[in-house]
Amino acid sequence: MSRDFNFSPGPSMLPESVLRQAQATMLEFDGCGASILEISHRGADFLAVARQAEADLRRLLSIPDDYAVIFTAGGATTVQALLPLNFAAPGQAADYVVSGHWGKTALKQAAPCVDARIAASSEAGGFHDLPGRAQWRLSADAAYVHVTANETIHGVEWRDIPESGNAPLIADFSSSIASEPLDVTKFGAIYAGAQKNLGPVGITVLIVRRDLLQRDGQPRAPILDYRAQAASESMLNTPPSWNWYVLGLTVKWMLDEGGVEEFARRNARKAALLYAAIDGSGGYYRNEVVASARSRMNVPFFLHDPALDTVFLAEARQAGLLALKGHRVLGGMRASLYNAMPEAGVQALVDFMQEFQTRHG
Ligand SMILES: Cc1ncc(COP(=O)(O)O)c(C=O)c1O
Repeated sequence: MSRDFNFSPGPSMLPESVLRQAQATMLEFDGCGASILEISHRGADFLAVARQAEADLRRLLSIPDDYAVIFTAGGATTVQALLPLNFAAPGQAADYVVSGHWGKTALKQAAPCVDARIAASSEAGGFHDLPGRAQWRLSADAAYVHVTANETIHGVEWRDIPESGNAPLIADFSSSIASEPLDVTKFGAIYAGAQKNLGPVGITVLIVRRDLLQRDGQPRAPILDYRAQAASESMLNTPPSWNWYVLGLTVKWMLDEGGVEEFARRNARKAALLYAAIDGSGGYYRNEVVASARSRMNVPFFLHDPALDTVFLAEARQAGLLALKGHRVLGGMRASLYNAMPEAGVQALVDFMQEFQTRHG
């Protein structure tokens, strides 16, 4: 068996110890005579797993009691579609701060059910920078203000998300949750697909201030109702139990490694190493994002000659460096440096890039 360094944007690299634990319990889970894939989500064995995962996530992210934690299937995109149904009255405005592809997606998903307004956008500048607070045009009557904490494709990240005024701030943290300490109380809601920093694809986390759950929202089926989901411990229907279990293992791993403070240090070192290699390459490689807005999680970069892209990817693959192809929206390369990516992986990438430049420069 060989496990390479996987720079995929998601589903992405998981800690090997998590995969080994999942493997060990795949056939028989914790003395219950069956795999965790085979037991009822309402039985005591799975309920203990689900509750422990929530308790550990609360510890990891310092989530206060006045926030509910909801686990659902459907990905972050489904959350984007459900935000207006749950938190906006029919016809009400909602403000969207658009800093990249996923901010646009959030707006598009919400638009059928809310008066979705672009409060600010950095699209005119190619999403190379963030739209600063001074540019935000907030509506007086907005149900909420939506931001994308980290843009996975464009590689721009808010490090200190500005206050939103009266309307609660709702943030998509899909690609940066648990990468550094986070003040949950600044937000009305935070959501994230798990498949980057929290574990496997197939489960999504919504952390929501309980008073927002009291909003009437709009007519919706019970299964789309976050108030009902919170009241039923996310078990209105059969939850993605395996994914929930592996998320729990991943969260536990992060706690054992030293928690978000430790990951903040590691992530800062990893990002600094890669950006220094790009900036120090004399233009052979380039990243186009303004330094203050550069993402620590997703680093898009371009070779000076796009004709070399295919060779770069093939040789990287040979060197044990996976999934460096950039998103089709941007082209070029992208290295995703989530929590499970060890510093040795980034060092291997940087060594490869320098050696590639020497051979093909
Ligand atoms: C920031 C961000 N938001 C939303 C999504 C969509 O997530 P999902 O595929 O879980 O719906 C992604 C996917 O990569 C993302 O990176």
